Formats: sequence, C-alpha cells, structure tokens
Amino acid sequence: MDAFQLQGHDLDSLRRVELPEPRPGPGEVRIRVAAASVNYRDYALATGRYQPELPRPFVPLSDGVGRIDALGEGVEGYALGERVIGHYTTKWIDGPFQSANHASKLGGPLDGWLARQIVLPASAIARAPEFLDDAAASTLPVSGLTAWAALQRMALPAGASVLVQGTGSVSLMALQLAVARGLDVIATTGDAGKADWLRSMGARAVIDYKQRPDLSAAVRELTGGRGVDGIVDVVGGPQFLDLLNAAADNAHIAVIGFLHSMQVDGNLIGPIMARQLNIHGVSVGSLRDLQAFLAEVDARRIVPIVGARFSFEQGARAIASIAQQRLVGKPVVVFD
Ligand SMILES: NC(=O)c1ccc[n+]([C@@H]2O[C@H](COP(=O)([O-])OP(=O)(O)OC[C@H]3O[C@@H](n4cnc5c(N)ncnc54)[C@H](OP(=O)(O)O)[C@@H]3O)[C@@H](O)[C@H]2O)c1
Repeated sequence: MDAFQLQGHDLDSLRRVELPEPRPGPGEVRIRVAAASVNYRDYALATGRYQPELPRPFVPLSDGVGRIDALGEGVEGYALGERVIGHYTTKWIDGPFQSANHASKLGGPLDGWLARQIVLPASAIARAPEFLDDAAASTLPVSGLTAWAALQRMALPAGASVLVQGTGSVSLMALQLAVARGLDVIATTGDAGKADWLRSMGARAVIDYKQRPDLSAAVRELTGGRGVDGIVDVVGGPQFLDLLNAAADNAHIAVIGFLHSMQVDGNLIGPIMARQLNIHGVSVGSLRDLQAFLAEVDARRIVPIVGARFSFEQGARAIASIAQQRLVGKPVVVFD
C-alpha cells in the first residue's frame, strides 16, 4: 500500500513508503481514503515541536474521509461503499475525557490517513454528511470537533460575545458555528487582506493582531469596555495574560492551542480569580461529541472552509504548507 510515514523529527523524515495492505480484524472496517486534511498538529509533530516522544514511524494525518472497502467479522451498522470520516481519539467513545485516551489518536501514535487505505474500529468512524464533498468532510474530525467542543463547554447564550483568533481551521469553524448560533463574534487576523472576508463570514468586528498587540484594549473598545463572554484561544504564550484582560466578568476561555507557545510567565492567577473566569481545557472530543457536532453541521448546513488542495504525491508538501502564508482554510490532500 502506497503511504507516507513520519520516520523522524523533521520534515525530511516524511517518506513515501510501500506498506502491506491492511486487513480489517473483527469489529474493524477498511476505508479507501478519498481525502485527508492537515492540522497544525501534523506540522508540529513533523518538525519535532510537539510530542517528540511519540514513537516513530507512523502514518501522519489525523483527519480523513473515504469509502468502506472491507468489513471485518461482526461489524454491524455499516455497509461496503459507505462514506465515513474517522474519529480521531479512537477509544474515547462517550463520557468525560481520560488521559489514557491520548494513546488512541490517529496520525500519531496510531497510523493516520496519509495512506491509500486505513483500518479503523467500527466504533471509531461516523457517516460523512452527504451535502459535503470529500475535501470539506475531511476537515471535520479534529479542528471541526474541537471548535464545537469549545463552544459547548462555554455554553454561551445567543447574543453573547466571543473572540476567535486568526483564520486557522479551528478558529474558522468556531466562527461559523458561533455565527450560526447567534453569537456576537469578534475575530482577529494578522493579515489585513482577510479582514473583509471574515466580516463576510459574519464577524461583527475584526482586529488586526499585528497592528494591535494590545489585544485586550482593542476588544474592550469593541464591547463598550465590558470584554467578551467567551474566548477560543488557539495561540497561548505570553499573549494569554493579555487575553485574560479581554474577558468579561465570569467569561469562559477555551484553552485549545499553542500557535505561539505553551509558556506563560506572569500573573495568571489574579485575573482568573478576581473576575471569576472559567478556564476550559479542550482536547477534541468523544465519538458522541462527534455525532452531535455532525448533526449540527447537517442541520445548519455548515460548509467548512477548504484552503489549498494537494494531490497524494504532494502529501509531504501539504504538511509543510502549514508554516507558509496560505489561502484561508484548511489544507486538504485530495486522493486520485
Ligand atoms: N486542543 C485541541 O483539541 C486542539 C485541536 C486542534 C488544534 N489544536 C491546536 O490549536 C491551534 C490551532 O490549530 P489550527 O489547526 O486551527 O491551526 P492553523 O490552521 O495552522 O492556524 C493558522 C492560522 O492561525 C493564525 N495565527 C498564527 N499565529 C497566530 C498568532 N500568534 N496570533 C493569532 N493568530 C495566529 C493565522 O491566521 P491569520 O493568517 O488570519 O493571522 C494562521 O493563518 C494549534 O496550536 C493546534 O495544535 C488543538
């Protein structure tokens, strides 16, 4: 089977390899991959920036869609030819998160989607929404579900305000869901050329975070001094302390990403305590969460934003593209 493997800790260690054709065991299905999308995590793993301790080699990419082409013994509820997406944290089926579930993630440590075929437990897939094409459907399991989980945890009522940061794939889905739920969305971007587009997607206001390093002041100007009720934080790093000052009393902050870094050095406790902020760590979601997210995507007809498209042969380039100035939307590898 034609596949890519991440064999080391740099982009050069992404190698195209021939692997044995996988066969589904009892309770498993084999999927012929139609499209797979790239998350920041894939780039961070391929550059040794994130979880360098994960054993290599593995097939990268955590997100994908395809058609079932073989059924293992005892599989019920799925048929040959059905179009399904994967469930990233394969062993997290329902209920609260457990740390042991990290070991069951696709695209490291388990083999992911940048291969012609993938075998998954039938309990780690879901039907792809029919109205979405392969590229769009492939974006849902990680960044889509993460955005949904963040908004669920915040449980903001319609009309409440929320800050989303940058035009990465988590933030874009958070924007789309928040607008659909009637929230008042303030977005940021470091690319002035994307501001009008963000407004056209429903953001009430857009802040250029490169022009306004005093992000909290900019947010307070836009909210009559009150601050926002919710923040989807994908950036982390020193900016986190400033973000706390953008939060209204009793606000919710979903801690999701580390586009800057994971290091915060300063007065973290004071603002959280004094304004009774609610901090939610988010690590994607369970299969039940994925099903609920897909139902909302279907009901609201939300079409995820696809960015650059790559062929299978360009798989390594697709992962490298995360670091480059790129189109708005998630990079997708569309298989031939
Ligand atoms: N906890 C979880 O469950 C979970 C799940 C998925 C992702 N994540 C994490 O969430 C983060 C975002 O992931 P992603 O896949 O959405 O990333 P992505 O698609 O690679 O996001 C890239 C975009 O983020 C914006 N950005 C970059 N640096 C920024 C900064 N310093 N301040 C504000 N915006 C900045 C830029 O938007 P502009 O061009 O508009 O400036 C850039 O185009 C990553 O750290 C990822 O590992 C966590």
